[in-house]
Formats: sequence, C-alpha cells, structure tokens
Amino acid sequence: MAKSRGIRKYGDKVLRGKNEKVKEFGPELAPLFDEMHETMIEARGVGLAAPQVGVPKQIAIMNPEPENEKTLLKMVNPRIIASSDETEKIEEGCLSVPGIRGDVVRAARITVAYQDENGKARTLEAEGILARIIQHELDHLNGVLFVDRLSLAKRALIKGKLKELAAGKEK
Ligand code: CO
Repeated sequence: MAKSRGIRKYGDKVLRGKNEKVKEFGPELAPLFDEMHETMIEARGVGLAAPQVGVPKQIAIMNPEPENEKTLLKMVNPRIIASSDETEKIEEGCLSVPGIRGDVVRAARITVAYQDENGKARTLEAEGILARIIQHELDHLNGVLFVDRLSLAKRALIKGKLKELAAGKEK
C-alpha cells in the first residue's frame, strides 16, 4: 500500500492557487495517484484533487463507490466541455473543509474531457452523484471550494467556523 498524505485544510494557500497542467506523463505520476488514492480511502472520501495533498497540478481522482477499485477514475488535465441546463441541488462536504456541509446547485449532467494516467485523451458523460463529484473536484483544480457556492445566508452562518478552520483551531 502507498503511504497516505496529509490533507490540506481550508485557509491553506495551495487550495486557492493555480494548478499546473501536466505535460509529461512520466513515472512519477503513478505513485502520486497511489498516494492520493490511499489518502482518499483513509479519509473516507469519494474524490480528491492534487492541491488537497499539496501538489499544485491538474490531477484529480473520483470514486463514487470507495470500496470498488473498478469505479476509480483518475483524471489529468480535466475540463468540462458540456453541461446540462438542468441543475440539481445536493448537499456537499469536503475533506479540506471538515465539519461543514451545505447545499450546492450544479449541472445535473456533464461531459468531461481529460487524459488518463498514460496521457490518453478520454471523454466521459456523467450524471447523478458522479457528475456531482467531478464538478466538485474540478472546482478544486481552479482554486474554488464548495463553500464559495453556498447561499449567502448559509455562508453567513458558517463564517465563524471557516475563520476557526483558517486559523488552524479545528478540534
Ligand atoms: Co473537496
């Protein structure tokens, strides 16, 4: 088993920075994916973006069924190329924002173009929970967190909690 990495928390600049496009699909990519996978499993998450483990690159993993190796998706340089007009409101949380959950409105269906770990170009159409996870993780690659997408009223409610997280006072 690969070692897991610490998850960066709200307030860490790496979560808000720019993430580099991956140009070389060298041997260093496989261990990074393994470490991210192990980290995600340990944290009982369904998705993880590279900046969440301190790596500012356009890389993310998703798995709507964490126990099922076959449903693990590894995406390099992903971008959404089509989104449905129809939206869904679903409650989200984030491993980088522990203790906070909230309803986020996003497209119900998307098409995502990405490269796999070998650099092969792929596209995937997703709906339901998978479309949700992909949109959440791709936000991370653009420095966006789900709390940015909450209603103004909800953001006002969690303001204090976010300040505590940013100050590293999480209990
Ligand atoms: Co997240």
